[in-house]
Amino acid sequence: MKMINKGEFIYFNEEAYDVLRNYLLHQVDSIKNIFILVDEITHIHCLPVIFKKIDFLKKSNVIKIKSGEKEKNIYTCIQICKNLEKFKATRKSLILNLGGGVITDIGGFVASIFKRGIRFINIPTTLLGMVDAAIGNKTGVNLDSIKNEIGSFYVPEFLVIDTHFLKTLPNKEIFSGMAEMLKHGLIADKNFWKKMNQIQIGFIQNENECKNLIHNSVLIKQKIVNQDPKEKGLRKILNFGHTIGHALESYFMNVNNILHGIAVTMGMIYESWISCKINGLSLYDYEEIRSTLSALYPIKNKISDLEINKLLLIMEHDKKNEKNKIQFSLLKEIGKCSYNCQVPYSLIKESFLN
Ligand SMILES: NC(=O)c1ccc[n+]([C@@H]2O[C@H](COP(=O)([O-])OP(=O)(O)OC[C@H]3O[C@@H](n4cnc5c(N)ncnc54)[C@H](O)[C@@H]3O)[C@@H](O)[C@H]2O)c1
Ligand SMILES: [Zn+2]
Repeated sequence: MKMINKGEFIYFNEEAYDVLRNYLLHQVDSIKNIFILVDEITHIHCLPVIFKKIDFLKKSNVIKIKSGEKEKNIYTCIQICKNLEKFKATRKSLILNLGGGVITDIGGFVASIFKRGIRFINIPTTLLGMVDAAIGNKTGVNLDSIKNEIGSFYVPEFLVIDTHFLKTLPNKEIFSGMAEMLKHGLIADKNFWKKMNQIQIGFIQNENECKNLIHNSVLIKQKIVNQDPKEKGLRKILNFGHTIGHALESYFMNVNNILHGIAVTMGMIYESWISCKINGLSLYDYEEIRSTLSALYPIKNKISDLEINKLLLIMEHDKKNEKNKIQFSLLKEIGKCSYNCQVPYSLIKESFLN
């Protein structure tokens, strides 16, 4: 299975390992020039799989970082650069990012700045990584609690998606990835939304179904990214659920960590409500979205007034804002999304109370 995205290729399962093996044998001059970036969990669950598939990688350099969003900062990048330096990386070196969105974001960013840019390949190991974070050429890290404030657009050589990695992924992480898949349906493909609506978390066990749904989701994101690689317009629809979602994620990062996908799901519910008020989304569609998403991820606590004000402050600093206005992507109907929508503060506040 092969897809082309302006220099970016995505390969699945066995074919992916053949492509990777060939690439490494023919495009990298020495095994010493290959660096595998892992976190402490993918080091245990995923690195042995890669070693089994491509034996000679055992001789490459492994750089291990701690796991988790807190590690996604510039200091970790500096540590990785120091390691690259220590193991004598050159401009011909290559980084294999083996992990979830945190690893592909950090590893891609390091690849973009080390010696003014070296090659990298993404091997996403979480569902969210496969359908979202590893695709689309955005790399970056957080600045304190401001999400993805430092970063670059940088294109990997290609992507390797091995759906078998999902077998060791905890359920909450599967849910987190499913949120982005549901989002892809909501913004661009009503049929895919309907399909996703019917599936349960167990779809991961069904190899064919899992591969097809992931493939479908990848195609939706790629199609959007291809039309607008640098997010000047259309690509903004991928931010549906993320204006409020990112604010929740930033706010709770310092309180009691919240998964990206869960924050985005809450964001999608609130932003669907706003869409219904000012962007023509029907009440019928809104109810369908709310009931599906809240069944998957019940929102336990109402957000307090104090928290709402703090969330608004965070949204005011969103790098996607223009002319001092918070920008939203809002649904017109299921499968259709508008971008650059301005929303009165009073309506944003009200959305949290529903
Ligand atoms: N660049 C982009 O376009 C983009 C898009 C969406 C999200 N993101 C970023 O992605 C990050 C979230 O990604 P994530 O949810 O993958 O988080 P993550 O990378 O932290 O992975 C989640 C957890 O799963 C563990 N893990 C990874 N693979 C595993 C496996 N196969 N088995 C068992 N455990 C495994 C990790 O160690 C981690 O503890 C956020 O920082 C977000 O900002 C980036
Ligand atoms: Zn997201």
